Amino acid sequence: MDHHRTPLFTALMQHAANDPLQFHIPGHKKGRGADPEFRAFVGDNTLSIDLINIVPLDDLHQPAGAIREAERLAADAFGADHTLFSVQGTTGAIMTMIMSVCSPGDTIILPRNAHKSILSAVIFAGAVPVWVEPEKDERLGIEHGVTTESIREAIERNPHVKAVLLINPTYYGTSIDLCQMVELVHSYNIPVLIDEAHGTLLHFHEQLPVSAMQAGADMAATSVHKLGGSMTQSSILNVKGNRVSIKRIRTVMSMLTTTSTSYLLLASLDTSRRQLALHGQALTGQTIRLAQEARRLINEIPGLYCYGEEICEKRGVFRYDPTKLCIHLEQLNLTGYAAEQWLRETYKLEVELSDLTNILCLITLGDTEQEVRRLLQALRQLSDAFRGEGKCNKRVSDAVVPAASRFLLAPREAFYAPAEEAWLEQACGRIISEFVYVYPPGIPILMPGQVITQEIVDYIKRHVEAGLPVKGPEDPDIQKVRVVAAPRQQDKAPGRRSGYIIPD
Ligand SMILES: Cc1ncc(COP(=O)(O)O)c(C=O)c1O
Repeated sequence: MDHHRTPLFTALMQHAANDPLQFHIPGHKKGRGADPEFRAFVGDNTLSIDLINIVPLDDLHQPAGAIREAERLAADAFGADHTLFSVQGTTGAIMTMIMSVCSPGDTIILPRNAHKSILSAVIFAGAVPVWVEPEKDERLGIEHGVTTESIREAIERNPHVKAVLLINPTYYGTSIDLCQMVELVHSYNIPVLIDEAHGTLLHFHEQLPVSAMQAGADMAATSVHKLGGSMTQSSILNVKGNRVSIKRIRTVMSMLTTTSTSYLLLASLDTSRRQLALHGQALTGQTIRLAQEARRLINEIPGLYCYGEEICEKRGVFRYDPTKLCIHLEQLNLTGYAAEQWLRETYKLEVELSDLTNILCLITLGDTEQEVRRLLQALRQLSDAFRGEGKCNKRVSDAVVPAASRFLLAPREAFYAPAEEAWLEQACGRIISEFVYVYPPGIPILMPGQVITQEIVDYIKRHVEAGLPVKGPEDPDIQKVRVVAAPRQQDKAPGRRSGYIIPD
């Protein structure tokens, strides 16, 4: 296919150049009705292609023209049979994957470190999760992938599961042996869905772990906006094979998508695909080299450790993505969150995320040696300012998310059940009816239906005290949480079905 072409972006530019008389939304009409300061800042070019689904520009909900063609080119570039554009981020693509294969009551295998979008989809679909614990890294205080053995065991225990969803790579950049995993799950004729939010570049360079499509997965939700150069909120859903129905997937995606789709986002997907298809290999190679040099120099800074090839020796890790610099503050006397703040205030430097013991910095297609030099300078000063005598004062074990507590209600049932507020401190043993997670990375510590345990309460308190962004509950201070209301006497009557209890 001719990847120099950008069917949608070209159609938009031609449409704007024709300068049609517009009697349709958006009401800013080529910027003239927009706030003048905003218009001057973003520019008339941008506003002139901020258009909607009028006939010459095709419709994402039933693409048959320029969008269809742009999606076909993307499928070719990403090695998929079909690609669907998402203007609702990877969140929208993940929800589509789950809701197109799961009906109410269906079970789905999920890793414990699933992003909140996965769990929201589980609630909307009325599905029942079967958790698999990811491998924990005791040195770094982070989680890696799940093992093939643990997935095999979960399938054997739940032979009727509708799908297996995996995260590849993780936010911190490690990947599982995806080819082996896909082969295993397919041997049971179960579809494999991949959360590939952090893996847009995988497909374009052999030094990176294999992509979901290369491994033969059935669907993958990929955040082109995170690492592939498109605009924030634009993602793709790649589909392969016939274990899943493309017609059903399109229907579900349409149900979950705004009718006012942003053509700026769609055009940025179209053009990013061009850049990746034509230059992805060279640009990614350059990014990897830059990141590897940064990694080498970070590891020379006293007190810091940035994992490299040796991480592949650990359980749950097969390969790693070198463009993600997970900087472990091994011998520094501050948390990752405090380091993030210090870097912001002292160096005007923003990291991707921090946790109790690490900061994560991403090297992307947009970086040059100059940015990396500034990062290294800042990290050297951080080390000088906070290097402790002897060991660091953080307990890495404090950072690892506790194992999932038991589900006593299905997530959907708990979410919609009558609920009441309880003090977090006094809520042990109660069933939570809302999410609690640290964002980023957005991995729930608790989700509706789970029993609150003392271990989890302590984990939440440690994170709140460290100033980490704990979110989810209606009470933003997380002093109180919503729990399923205590059952009334009549609900306890023998034989009354008050929600199915999920077996261990
Ligand atoms: C692992 C993972 N999955 C899914 C998402 C959702 O992606 P998006 O922000 O594009 O909706 C994120 C976002 O950070 C993520 O980290």
